[in-house]
Amino acid sequence: MADNNEIYNPPAELVKNANITKFMEKHGLKTLDELLTKAQDYEWFWAEMAKELEWYKAFDKILEWNNPFAKWYLGGKFNIVHNAIDRHMNTKTADKVAFIYEPEPENEKVERWTYRQLNTEICKFANALKKLGVKKGDRITIYLPMVPQVAIAMLACAKIGAIHSVVFSGFSSGSLKDRIIDAEAKVLITADGAYRRGKLVELKKNADESVKDTPSIQHVIVFNRADTKVNMTEGRDLWWHEITAQESDQCPTEQLDSEDMLYTLYTSGTTGKPKGIVHVHAGYAVGTYATLKFIFDLKESDIWWCAADVGWVTGHSYIVYSPLMLGATSVLYEGAPDFPNAGRWWKTIAREKVTVLYTSPTAIRMHMRYGEKWAGEHDLSSLRLLGSVGEPINPEAWRWYYKYIGGERCPIMDTWWQTETGHILITPLPITPLKPGSATKPFPGAKANVFTQDGHPIKPNENGFAVLLTPWPGMLRTLYKDPERYKEVYWSRFPGIYLTGDSCTIDEDGYFWFRGRADEVLNVAGHRLGTAEVESALVAHAAVAEAAVIGVPHEVKGDVPKAYVTLKVGFEKSEELKKELKDWVSKEIGPIARPEEIEFRDKLPKTRSGKIMRRLLKAEALGKPIGDISTLEE
Ligand code: WT7
Repeated sequence: MADNNEIYNPPAELVKNANITKFMEKHGLKTLDELLTKAQDYEWFWAEMAKELEWYKAFDKILEWNNPFAKWYLGGKFNIVHNAIDRHMNTKTADKVAFIYEPEPENEKVERWTYRQLNTEICKFANALKKLGVKKGDRITIYLPMVPQVAIAMLACAKIGAIHSVVFSGFSSGSLKDRIIDAEAKVLITADGAYRRGKLVELKKNADESVKDTPSIQHVIVFNRADTKVNMTEGRDLWWHEITAQESDQCPTEQLDSEDMLYTLYTSGTTGKPKGIVHVHAGYAVGTYATLKFIFDLKESDIWWCAADVGWVTGHSYIVYSPLMLGATSVLYEGAPDFPNAGRWWKTIAREKVTVLYTSPTAIRMHMRYGEKWAGEHDLSSLRLLGSVGEPINPEAWRWYYKYIGGERCPIMDTWWQTETGHILITPLPITPLKPGSATKPFPGAKANVFTQDGHPIKPNENGFAVLLTPWPGMLRTLYKDPERYKEVYWSRFPGIYLTGDSCTIDEDGYFWFRGRADEVLNVAGHRLGTAEVESALVAHAAVAEAAVIGVPHEVKGDVPKAYVTLKVGFEKSEELKKELKDWVSKEIGPIARPEEIEFRDKLPKTRSGKIMRRLLKAEALGKPIGDISTLEE
C-alpha cells in the first residue's frame, strides 16, 4: 500500500556529485525548494538549458505563447543531429561507444558503435535518401526493430530535415497502413525480420501488406537483419546495404529553424483514430537533454540503459536523442527481457557494468513474478540510479525494485510524462526525498496542478484531473494536420490549460500521486491504447454488431482490455468465436490490443442518446457500486 510518510532520502554522496547540485551551486540555490521556486521563472530556466546546446544562429526570443500554440527559441538556427552527432566529431567523444547493441539470439555478437561510426552510417543513409528524392519536410515512416539502424534512420531523416514517423514493430500491417496514410509518407524503412522471444517476426511481409493501400509510398528500404527470404518489388523495394554502399560518408546537416518539425508519433486517444503528435527540433532537444542530464544524472563514465522500445516516445527521447546529445554510452537490446530466461537483463547489466537503468512498472512486476533469484545470480553493484515510467508504480513493485535490483542504494526516479509532453515533466531529481508510488514534484521550469471537475485546485489528498499550467519546450506543437482536434482534446476542458487525461492527487507535502487515466484510454504494459480503437477493430469483424471495451486490472500489465460484444443475426456465441475475435484484434492492431476476455451480451447498456455506458460495465466487472444510472435507457 502507498504511505505518504514512507520516505527514502537520497545518499549524500550522490547528492554531492549530482549534475543538478552543480547547477544549483552555479546559481546560488541551496535547496530543492529554492531551485523549484527560482525555476518558476521558466523562461530563465529554459534559456539557461538552451545555452548548453550548439546553435548555428542564436535564438532571439525564448517563447511566443499564443495559447495553446507555443513556439520556442525563435530566430534560432538549429538541428538536433548537430547536437547529437556532429558536435562530437571534433572531441574525444567521437571515438566513444554510443551504442552497445545486443542482439536477442545469444550466438550473435554484441556490436559496439562509436559516435564516429554512427556518423558515417547516418551520412551514407542520408545521402541515399536524398538520391531517392527525399527533401526537407517529407515524411518517412520507419518500421524497424530494436537495431542500431533504427537510430541511424531517424537521425538521417532529421539531418536532412525530413520528418520521421516511427511505427512500433509490434504493430500489425493495419496499424502501419493507417499511420502511413495519415502521414502521407514517401518512403517506408523496414527490415526483413526481427527476433522476439526466439521467433522471427516477419516485418517485410507486414510492410508489403500495408503498402498495397498506401499510394504515397514510392520506395520501401529494407534492412537485412535476419537473412531471410523476402519479396522485393522491382523498382519500389531497395536493400539498405545496396543503396548505401557507394554513398559518401559526408553529408551536410540542414540548418533548420528552431520550430521545424522533427517527427510525428502516433498515440491513442479516446476515438478510434490515433493522434499524430508533432515535435520540433529545438525545444524538444533542450527538454530531453535537460531532463536526462538532471534526472538521470548522466556523466562521462555512465553506462545508460533505457530498456524501452524505439517505437514509443520513451525510445525517441531517451534511447536516441538525449543520450547522444549528452555523449553517453547506451545499451540497445533487441529482444524480450525474459529470453532465453529471466536472467537476461541482469546478465547484461553485470557484463556491461550498467550504471543507470530506466524501465517500466510492468517489466518490474514481470521480474518480480519470476523472483529475485534471477537478479541475485548477477553482480548488479555497478547500478547507481534507477528509473520507472509508463504508468503508476505500485509501492510493492517500487520496494522490490529498490531492494533486489538497486541493492537499497539506488534512488528510483519515477518519471511522469507523455508522448505529448516530449520529455519528463513530473519527477524526482537525485536530490529528492522519495515516497514509493509518487512521481514527487514538477521538474524545474514546469508547473502542474490537480483540478476538480469545475477547475479549482483540489484540497490535499483529493482526486482530480492533472493539468499543466505553463508551456514547456518539448511540448507537442499540434496534432498532425489537425489543429482543431489539438485544441479540443487538450485545451478545452479547462480553457487555456493543458489537460493530461490523468487522474491524480497531491498530498500535504506537494507530492503528486498519479492514479491512472481519467478517460477512455488504457495503459497496457505501459503502452497507451484507446478503448475506441479496440472497439472499432471488433466491429470490423463480420460477426460483430456492437462492442464495448473496458480496462480491467492485470497483475503484470496494469490494465488489459475486456470486450463486451453483441453478435449480428445468424452468428452463434461460441468459445471458438471468442478466440477468433481475440486473434482478429491482434491482427488488426497488434498483440498489445488482444482482449484478455470477451463476453457475449444480447444488449449493451446505453444512455437514452444511444451512448454505450462503459462505466456500468466497468463497475460490474470490478464489483463496484454502479453509481448514477439516471441516463440509462432502460
Ligand atoms: C501516460 C502517457 C511517457 C512515456 C511512456 C508512456 C502514464 C507515464 C507515468 C508515471 C504514472 C504514468 C500516464 C500518462 N504514465 N508515466 N511515472 N506515473 N503514470 O507514454 O504512451 O504517451 O502514455 O502514461 O497515464 O498520461 P504514453
